[in-house]
Amino acid sequence: MREELGRVSGPHGEVALWRRTDDDGAVVTELVVDGVFAMDDVDTSTERALATEALARVDGAELAVLVGGLGLGWTTAAVLRSPGVAEVVVVELEDALLGWAADGLLPGLRSTADPRLDLVAGDVACAFTPGRYDVVLLDVDNGPEFLVHGSNAGLYGTAGLTRALAALRPGGVLAIWSADPAPALLERLADTPGTRDVEQLVLPVEREGRVFEYAILLARCG
Ligand SMILES: C[S@@+](CC[C@H](N)C(=O)[O-])C[C@H]1O[C@@H](n2cnc3c(N)ncnc32)[C@H](O)[C@@H]1O
Repeated sequence: MREELGRVSGPHGEVALWRRTDDDGAVVTELVVDGVFAMDDVDTSTERALATEALARVDGAELAVLVGGLGLGWTTAAVLRSPGVAEVVVVELEDALLGWAADGLLPGLRSTADPRLDLVAGDVACAFTPGRYDVVLLDVDNGPEFLVHGSNAGLYGTAGLTRALAALRPGGVLAIWSADPAPALLERLADTPGTRDVEQLVLPVEREGRVFEYAILLARCG
């Protein structure tokens, strides 16, 4: 059974939120953005790992974190649960998702009441204020080779990576989620001036009897 929780057309196409019950009785929420499957919550371990792996690499008690896109809220909730986080700015392209978050419809983030949380509508590419964050987390596509919006391509080029890295304080960490290992992006990160500790974590996830290899790419500023 598949039930539509919401559907809105906007400047970036249509965004739709679905809930389905799998054969084993599990309730799954699914997000479709501009006709492209963006995600579901069958296994959210890597969305959460995007937050925990990046935050494990920084020290501090008053950490500021930028998250680009909200999706179903799993990464954001993992940031809010992590020690030392004082401020979380989430930039999401689709207004509708912010409304569904406020209505408690996102399975990863049932409440938006945390005073540390600032949910902002917009393009994360316009949110890279220089030297503002300890951690920048990007999960806006299915990966650099499988974009949800073609306009996001610039995020993964040298100029886009430079702007994202410049949003970090010295020692801060940029982390990017990808549905596949991304060797070209890894190389580009390593070649971007001012980066160090560049690494890729390959995370196997089993779904419907198949093993998928998702990846998280990490780079430190300065
Ligand atoms: C795969 S989902 C993110 C999943 C999220 N990590 C989670 O844990 O649920 C991708 C999200 O990024 C948003 N998005 C796509 N391009 C964006 C952009 N340029 N700026 C901000 N958000 C964007 C999409 O609307 C979608 O909500």
